[in-house]
Amino acid sequence: MSKIKNIVVLTGAGISAESGIRTFRDTGGLWEDHSIEEVATPEGYAANPELVLGFYNARRAQLSSVEPNPAHTALSRLEKGLIGQGGYLTIVTQNVDDLHERGGAENVIHMHGELLSQWCRSCNHKFKSSESFTLQSQCPKCSAGGKVRPDIVWFGEMPYYMDTIEMSVTNCDLFVSIGTSGAVYPAAGYVQMARGLGKQTLEINLERSEGSHFFHETRLGKAGELVPAWVDEVLNG
Ligand code: APR
Ligand code: ZN
Repeated sequence: MSKIKNIVVLTGAGISAESGIRTFRDTGGLWEDHSIEEVATPEGYAANPELVLGFYNARRAQLSSVEPNPAHTALSRLEKGLIGQGGYLTIVTQNVDDLHERGGAENVIHMHGELLSQWCRSCNHKFKSSESFTLQSQCPKCSAGGKVRPDIVWFGEMPYYMDTIEMSVTNCDLFVSIGTSGAVYPAAGYVQMARGLGKQTLEINLERSEGSHFFHETRLGKAGELVPAWVDEVLNG
């Protein structure tokens, strides 16, 4: 690969798997226990808000017992290294955990929302909280009860920051996808956008993703091992 200055990394649940957070579609994944319709759609929330709040409460509570793994910290090292070389890293994550930030990364775009962010559907206020929410919980701004939902992008809803992400892909030299099955759009389509713009592309995943054939190169294995090695290559090469 020629000298790389600007990189976009797209991450998915696989990068947090070695930290102990379950992925969605692997064996033992979250979608084996819960249906997407029930806990990850606006219709599911309308039908049974308590079930949905409980699902995200449990996942939010888990954050305090997990730590970033070597893949997260390597990306933070890459961010600092690229800035030192006059470039930059944009991490676009589908993950709703905070492990990139806790691993030290700063430029992180949460396109599917965040477990630690809540959204009042009465006054539209968004606020950070690591607490559990019930139908009795009040919005800290307008005091409405039962209107606070997780600030998570559900199926059928528009992902966040799409313009910024597309601009980042347009301005990058290399697009890298880490730990995602490539099953969910628009995230799964960014590799095709990158290819169309003539960018280099690399996939790092435990197994071939659905869009694997779109990448110039695929490295198969654990993110916690392959990502630090790849970061060394970029910064030294
Ligand atoms: N290292 C690298 N890759 C891994 C590891 C690991 N240690 N463990 C699992 N993987 C890979 C799996 O092989 C799989 O391809 O990570 C991928 C995880 O895929 P999904 O469970 O589908 O997660 P993701 O791609 O992030 O899902 C996208 O779907 O349900 C929604 O909104 C949710 O953001 C999520 C979106
Ligand atoms: Zn409110």
